[in-house]
Amino acid sequence: MLDQPGKTKSQSAGPALDFQAHLAALEAAGLLVRVDRPIDKDTELHPLVRWQFQGGMPEDQRRAFLFTNVIDGSGRRYDMPVVVGALAASPQIYSIGMGKPVEEIGAAWVNAIAHPIPPVKVSNPPCQDIVIKGADLKKPDGGLKLLPVPISTPGFDAAPYLTATLCVTKDPESGIQNMGTYRGQLKATDRLGVRMASRIGGAGGYQHWLKHRRMKTPMPCAIVVGCAPVVVFTGPQKLAIDQDEMGVAGALAGQPIRTAKCVTVDLDVPADAEIVIEGLIDPELLEPEGPFGESHGYVALEDYNMSMQVTAITHKRKPVFVSIISQVTPSESSVIKKVAYEPMFMAHLRDQISIKGIRGVSLHEPLSNVRPVIFLKFAQGAPRTEVWRGLHGASTFRADCGKIVVAVSEDIDPTNTNAVFWSIAYRANPVDDVHIVPHRSSGHGPKSGRKSNDSSMLIDATLKQVFPPLALPGKQFMERARAIWDELGLPALAPQPPWHGYMLGEWADEWDTYAARAVGGQWETSGKETFARRRGGLTPETPVKSADKD
Ligand SMILES: Cc1cc2nc3c(=O)[nH]c(=O)nc-3n(C[C@H](O)[C@H](O)[C@H](O)COP(=O)(O)O)c2cc1C
Repeated sequence: MLDQPGKTKSQSAGPALDFQAHLAALEAAGLLVRVDRPIDKDTELHPLVRWQFQGGMPEDQRRAFLFTNVIDGSGRRYDMPVVVGALAASPQIYSIGMGKPVEEIGAAWVNAIAHPIPPVKVSNPPCQDIVIKGADLKKPDGGLKLLPVPISTPGFDAAPYLTATLCVTKDPESGIQNMGTYRGQLKATDRLGVRMASRIGGAGGYQHWLKHRRMKTPMPCAIVVGCAPVVVFTGPQKLAIDQDEMGVAGALAGQPIRTAKCVTVDLDVPADAEIVIEGLIDPELLEPEGPFGESHGYVALEDYNMSMQVTAITHKRKPVFVSIISQVTPSESSVIKKVAYEPMFMAHLRDQISIKGIRGVSLHEPLSNVRPVIFLKFAQGAPRTEVWRGLHGASTFRADCGKIVVAVSEDIDPTNTNAVFWSIAYRANPVDDVHIVPHRSSGHGPKSGRKSNDSSMLIDATLKQVFPPLALPGKQFMERARAIWDELGLPALAPQPPWHGYMLGEWADEWDTYAARAVGGQWETSGKETFARRRGGLTPETPVKSADKD
């Protein structure tokens, strides 16, 4: 089924530079599920894949789903298969797209942004094997209706939506291209609604549109659906407005990306793309767009957004249509952003503003969608002033990220929200350790009841002095018990940190002695010693340490 015309050496040496080669790599790794039974693209396809996010499955069991028998409610069959989850259903799937282990993804982004490799132009690109334009775009069942575009949130969405897009636009003054992942609503066989966020920190394409509006010229736009994952991954990544994503993708690929000129607009697109929709966006007239289920977890209601007249649809001879599952997080949309944004935050804090003791950045994913809530991990003993510089740095790095930033110590796993609450409960004093900072833009969220002038909450929940050990059996005892657990054939465990006790700095040598005697059955010896140390004139719960010092 999978056509692989552009298959390159990439699979063995680096990331796949052809989307279908990437699908083959996922299938070889056991990460792709083929569904050959008929599936209704409008009512069944996204809800089926949704279950792997809402069904309590561990992240590493999520898969890409390839639907080879796609139909719609009218019984229409589509030639093109549809794939969902193939870009970022899990970090592992994303890492196959990058051709790198998960641990190396952060450094790869930082390096690619610093050292882009410009693309190379080719002619007769595979993405233009088939060209549909002119009257063919207007046929009742032609144009965009030829594409098996699924409905993401049936019951709420107003139409099928393009989700796995790279919307290519060009700055009409500098000539520099931008590629962003923006949703596209089917409006007619030859028209789309496109939403480019106008908020501060929003879409790069919107800045180009503002210039076209001033110049009163339609904005050329090419929407790429499906291409090398390293190219797609630049769409949701936040780069400087004048940095061409194609060069960054080349650096991720380790070689120039092959590009080709569009058929009807003056834009360059990846030559090995599956499908490209070319068109012109009206510089003045906006059209109602939505409702559409959004990644902040609510349905975005109808807004006036851009209206794109399609001038051509081009595709490979046997393309695969790719869709991203977004809406309530975790979803493919949050994984694709989390993996890209976390290393950028870390590089900013550690390398650009030199925060001492910063050990990690974790963007909170479930429901909140990676932008508003950020956890920072600090080394034990990091200076408090550095913790606060880090809190402010993370909160201000991106206009739309970091409404709530919480600093924790290194022993806390920030992905375990229970551990974070535990840390806030015992290691922070709200009057000293919580600051509310006014005047931040409200970012990405439902419009209902929001003020444009929001605020941030910064919390220092790090350890500020030595603490007693964590109250679980020591590691060696838990490990020994785990072996017995397995020997007994008890139900499979999924250990959640913390799962063993550890030191946090407050302890005395004699307590080691007591503990060693206790597990050796010698606790009466300790009892004899403490009997000899009995004292009067104290109230119960007087710490031995302070009483003995007196
Ligand atoms: C699945 C998905 C859908 C997205 N949809 C939109 C959208 O409709 N409009 C938008 O402005 N940003 C959207 N985003 C976020 C942008 O892709 C992101 O802000 C990116 O940095 C934009 O690139 P740019 O800075 O080059 O514009 C989406 C992201 C993902 C992963």
